[in-house]
Amino acid sequence: MKEITIHSPATVANLVCGFDVLGLCLEEPYDIMNLSLLDKRQVIIKTTGDYPLPADPALNTAGAPLLEMISALDMDAGFEVTISKQIKPGSGIGSSAASAAGAVVGANELLGNVFSKEDLVRFAMFGEKVASGVKHADNIAPCIYGGITLIRSIFPLDIIQIPTPSLFVTVVHPQIEIRTSDAREILRKEVLLKDAIRQWGNIAGLVAGLMKNDYDLIGRSLEDVIIEPIRSILIPGFHEIKRQCKEAGAIGGGISGSGPSVFMLSSNEATAISVELVMRSIYDRIGLHYHTYVTTINKTGVKCIV
Ligand code: HSE
Repeated sequence: MKEITIHSPATVANLVCGFDVLGLCLEEPYDIMNLSLLDKRQVIIKTTGDYPLPADPALNTAGAPLLEMISALDMDAGFEVTISKQIKPGSGIGSSAASAAGAVVGANELLGNVFSKEDLVRFAMFGEKVASGVKHADNIAPCIYGGITLIRSIFPLDIIQIPTPSLFVTVVHPQIEIRTSDAREILRKEVLLKDAIRQWGNIAGLVAGLMKNDYDLIGRSLEDVIIEPIRSILIPGFHEIKRQCKEAGAIGGGISGSGPSVFMLSSNEATAISVELVMRSIYDRIGLHYHTYVTTINKTGVKCIV
């Protein structure tokens, strides 16, 4: 096989209480990528669509992981990648991870699947390093594995797939850009023990709630006493959205990744649509442009469309 088309989905990192350790794969939106094998050791990046991306592969979130893959295999070949970006950079729904994960899954397919999913996460994290200055896998892992993933550790890599009940996800993306590197820079480097205790209780509760299909426990556990109080300041209307969406029946939710997108989980589609209406009416009143998505959990992650 010399050429492949990839659908690489958006993801919600952190899942409120699980900063850098939990993530969820969405059915929509997704980037469309074409990859082809080159007979020369190089990576060529091309983009189509509204969002300009760096053409230098070392500075591109799809390019950097491919350069690592080529050097790991000491290949005398390379890749050309054309990215049709649908997930806006800086949206908080895993735009950089979609490029990185799509590139490595597509390249692996072209090479005859020589790498495991875990290897692919390792390569793709080089893309996150380009985007945010640090390696984290809470968008990459759910993008490659699908579903909800727990990244217990990245050095060494330890990824656990968490079974989930049926969940609908409503996302609102206010059209402001928050760079992940900036959203990380503003965080405190130390936490109080009482906050840490509350947070790890919530993470454990969320994972248990997902595994037991316990929507109430999931809702109680979607609380973040460490990151949200700081980052929410950057998101207009955040607290109102959260309160009104819960009143409309959402199980709970919060900042998607590093923001500005906000996500809410619901147990059924009708509630997820009511939640979308709440989000729309708040941003209409504030006068901020936005996009909304009502979608579900993508159980399979990146798809190869041959
Ligand atoms: N865990 C990362 C953060 C996700 O919150 O900074 C970035 O999408």
